[in-house]
Amino acid sequence: MDYQALSNRYGTPLFAYDFDRFSAQYALLKDAFSGSKSLIAYAVKANSNLSTISHLAAQGAGADCVSFGEVKRALIAGVPKYKIIFSGIGKRDDEIAGALNEDILFINIESEAELARVEAIALELGKVARISIRVNPAIDPKTHPYISTGLRENKFGVDIPTAQRLYLHAKNSAAVDPIGIHFHIGSQLTDLAPILEAAHKVAELARTLIALGIELKFFDVGGGIGVVYKDETPIDPNEYAKGILSAIKGLDLTVICEPGRFLVSEAGFFLTRVLYEKRSGDKRFVVVDGAMNDLIRPALYHAYHRVEVVGKPSADANETLCDVVGPVCESGDFFAKNLPLPPIVRGDLLAIHTAGAYGFSMSSNYNTRRRAAEIAVENGVDRLIRERETYDDLFASETKLLKASK
Ligand code: LLP
Repeated sequence: MDYQALSNRYGTPLFAYDFDRFSAQYALLKDAFSGSKSLIAYAVKANSNLSTISHLAAQGAGADCVSFGEVKRALIAGVPKYKIIFSGIGKRDDEIAGALNEDILFINIESEAELARVEAIALELGKVARISIRVNPAIDPKTHPYISTGLRENKFGVDIPTAQRLYLHAKNSAAVDPIGIHFHIGSQLTDLAPILEAAHKVAELARTLIALGIELKFFDVGGGIGVVYKDETPIDPNEYAKGILSAIKGLDLTVICEPGRFLVSEAGFFLTRVLYEKRSGDKRFVVVDGAMNDLIRPALYHAYHRVEVVGKPSADANETLCDVVGPVCESGDFFAKNLPLPPIVRGDLLAIHTAGAYGFSMSSNYNTRRRAAEIAVENGVDRLIRERETYDDLFASETKLLKASK
């Protein structure tokens, strides 16, 4: 990817994605399940651009959505409704009704109270709600606490005895049809063991349910496959698939996987230009035009993202330590701390790596900054997939409400 040419053409800050690598990641995972029934439901939250979703849908991906907004995105992007699932612990009535009216594959239930709402709304609409239930297998996924979800103290899913009770209730209800079982223990997982432990626990429950006459069709193993930001050893997709398939051996179930990061993170780059260098005592700061509002992961999780100075050798003898920071008025607005970088001049371009997932999709307008443009490169051809916001975009929903000044 020619970062310099792309930045010159589209300006900075800029998110640039290599769509061919998105498809390659998709193929890796899909092929790992070959010979078995599987659906790769892309976790839209990782990178919700319509063109990203549409590109993955064209490869065969479905969509894992966590709001009705994401369901709408998936539909607009061309994901077939029978490949769309809707999860999340706080679905509003209008979102549940929307999902039922769109007739998506299933709604993933996260609590007893939610099951009651889905049942009531389905009855009102004269529909049968296809559901799965998210089971919390109480397993430590050994990842960052903010992105670990399968522990008992997390807010996600229901415990195994509750799940069993809810399935029996659903079986006897005319308004819901329990067709799936789901778990997701966390994100950026680099250890396969906890995933497989969860898969075996949940598969055991599936066997019990099937014996009780519940006709499950889908075994949804969530997302969470980790990637390399720095020096992690990632999970091998073939080992992952093999382990999951062995957990459900003998059961006639379609595996659903909900990868987000695995598909899109490593082929995404955040491109930002240097505005100033600043020294304060012996502390060196490199101030760039991108900020935490564009890519919040370093500020929020102290996440590591490799910073490359485009066109300059990385092991330069003249490197000194610096913090790479953005213009936002927060001390937490940094991309890297104590990073050795060569001498930098205004206008130098930095490529921040592994920014395709949870980059733009977590961006905001904080400090009244316009959100960045996004571009895709496919077969060597680049194209704009989201225009840089304009100031008019930012103010439109407020200017019309301004009181006329005297
Ligand atoms: N399925 C469920 C139910 C999820 O909660 C998530 C992510 C996924 C699938 C996709 O997980 P992935 O394959 O991308 O790991 N903002 C954080 C990550 C939050 C993940 C939330 N749930 C970050 O930047 O690291």
